[in-house]
Amino acid sequence: MRNPVKYILGIVAFAFALNAFDSAPVLADEHMIVIKERKALMKKVVKATRIIKKYKKGKASANEAIAAAKALRKAMNASIDKRLYPKNSTRPDVSAKKTRAKANILSEWEAFVEAGKKSAKLASKFIEVAKVGQGEAKFACGGCHKPYRGKKVR
Ligand code: HEC
Repeated sequence: MRNPVKYILGIVAFAFALNAFDSAPVLADEHMIVIKERKALMKKVVKATRIIKKYKKGKASANEAIAAAKALRKAMNASIDKRLYPKNSTRPDVSAKKTRAKANILSEWEAFVEAGKKSAKLASKFIEVAKVGQGEAKFACGGCHKPYRGKKVR
């Protein structure tokens, strides 16, 4: 062995390459892609609600609020795609630190989709009435978050 330090570093690098130090199941890692995707959609949803709230306070235009409601509806409809909720991509199969989505999303899929459609419908309703300067800025987020989203953990 000409250079023992290089030799040891080589072994360490090899072990990292093999993921030998990662004890998380490969399956959960695979699901991180869809988990990130569904969270990103929800971020779009909450961003839209913030613009709509601004509009209600007179700090954003009706057109901005309408555009936001359209974005909310689009993200919501995209959220209720089965592709984003493959088997084993919810708690408890995936660590509670990585997702707040509960397993009953999968067992109650139809109801989950209905809750999403309800939010999207409320966005459509908002779009209609915002044109004439009105509109409830409520989108039934709890219809999903209460039954299907677990507590935040650190
Ligand atoms: C169709 C069901 C459904 C509806 C309706 C819904 N959500 Fe969610 N939302 C979820 C689920 C499930 C999660 C957890 C996703 C995860 O952690 O994998 C979530 C997570 C979130 C998050 C956290 C995202 C992150 O980065 O972790 C925000 C913010 C959010 N929702 C906002 C909203 C708002 C605002 C509304 C109402 C306008 C809403 N959601 C309506 C299902 C829904």
